[in-house]
Amino acid sequence: MAIDRKFLLCAFAYAIAGMGVGIYMAASKNHSLFVAHAHILLVGFVVSLIYALVHKLWIAGSGRRLADVQFYLHQLAALVMTGGLVLLYAGALPEATLAPALGLASVGVLLAALLMVWMIVRLPRELAGSAALS
Ligand code: HEM
Ligand code: HEM
Repeated sequence: MAIDRKFLLCAFAYAIAGMGVGIYMAASKNHSLFVAHAHILLVGFVVSLIYALVHKLWIAGSGRRLADVQFYLHQLAALVMTGGLVLLYAGALPEATLAPALGLASVGVLLAALLMVWMIVRLPRELAGSAALS
């Protein structure tokens, strides 16, 4: 499956999960999960959607191996981060237990963003120009 489509499907999986948590908070009148909700939707949905668009519009097929690394890094880090935040704010596990995983996941999200910048910067100028025109 093309990398932009993989990002797109993951993005909407996060959208559905995040909205589910939002509806649960609204219905239960218990907003304690809002930080988890915000990051499921922003790191999971919005950032994955932006990566899908960047792959579709600017990177299209170039640097496939690096694109795969960036995809799995962002998805793994986002999953650990959002899952960890749900467990933290639901009070299922103490902060001390979750902190190492949350810390590593944060660095993973950051590294995936840096990798994306790297892929954009090293794009051949002609490829970047033609994608912007088409
Ligand atoms: C089914 C749709 C949604 C429902 C029912 C919902 C519900 C909620 C609720 C109840 C809160 C807690 C408000 C508070 O106590 O401060 C909240 C916060 C938040 N939501 Fe949603 N939400 C939905 C969709 C979204 C979407 C699509 C996004 C972003 C793409 C989003 C981003 C946020 C953010 C960033 C916060 C934190 C705001 C703050 O810092 O106070 N939500 N949402
Ligand atoms: C390395 C990744 C990230 C880390 C470690 C991180 C960490 C945090 C922390 C510690 C807070 C304060 C939570 C609190 O109120 O107790 C926060 C809030 C917030 N973050 Fe992030 N964040 C990250 C990525 C992002 C991204 C990529 C977005 C948006 C695209 C985002 C949007 C927000 C928003 C809207 C809030 C305020 C609402 C809330 O408290 O839930 N964050 N973040």
